[in-house]
Amino acid sequence: MSILKKHSKLEKNATLLLVASLIVVTIGGIVEIAPLFYLQNTVEKVDGMRPYTPLELAGRNIYVREGCYACHSQMIRPFRDEVERYGHYSLAAESMYDHSFQWGSKRTGPDLARVGQRYSNEWHVQHLIEPRSVVPESVMPSYAFLKDTPLDTEGLAAHLVANRRVGVPYTDEMIAHAEADAKAQANPDADTRGLEARYPKVKVANFGGDKRQLTEMDALVAYLQMLGTLVDFSTYKEADGYR
Ligand code: HEC
Repeated sequence: MSILKKHSKLEKNATLLLVASLIVVTIGGIVEIAPLFYLQNTVEKVDGMRPYTPLELAGRNIYVREGCYACHSQMIRPFRDEVERYGHYSLAAESMYDHSFQWGSKRTGPDLARVGQRYSNEWHVQHLIEPRSVVPESVMPSYAFLKDTPLDTEGLAAHLVANRRVGVPYTDEMIAHAEADAKAQANPDADTRGLEARYPKVKVANFGGDKRQLTEMDALVAYLQMLGTLVDFSTYKEADGYR
């Protein structure tokens, strides 16, 4: 009996067809679902990743609120043209503390996954105030109001708690110091030893350039300046063959 004839038996018997279909769907389901239980294992561990500082997290919230993701992705794909333009392709572990992630696929502007330290703080402030003053052909909107909007630091501890609930390893100490840490990071004259111990590689600066008050500009620029700077890629260069 050829295989087609056997199949016609299935097609003529409704119960047999139902049972066989269920078996096929079950196998398909297991193949798709089972790997998800091991998802944690697929995220390669990398050195250097740490949770966002409270100021960076506040900046990230502003980034989401303003819809920057509508024009900017944060995922460098493993293709030669992308790697040459933006740097090492993104690793899964680099967005392990992102809730929600900002990968995206729409690129009206460039990918921002590694924009940290590529420009000065002053450049970012000027660019956010009036993009066309530094890039004449830019179609990016102006976000000048950020420099006049005081940063609301009161809710920061709650933001850390919310992130901890979904798996970001914020300690009680980090939560207790959330507000003070946010203020210290934007103040080069502050005692930042505690901040630096809690968040390795943290950059301290008057990001927004306004010495009188802590603004949303400080937070957003602090966030942009740390993007892609935590993992040391000099150790990855030889293995990947792209650089
Ligand atoms: C309407 C689309 C659009 C939106 C929304 C937008 N941008 Fe842009 N962005 C661009 C374009 C286009 C460029 C390239 C020209 C330029 O540098 O201004 C750019 C460039 C940039 C750059 C420089 C990147 C590089 O590598 O040179 C940064 C940083 C940036 N944007 C941040 C932001 C932030 C932060 C927000 C949200 C507050 C934002 N953008 C919102 C379109 C947009």
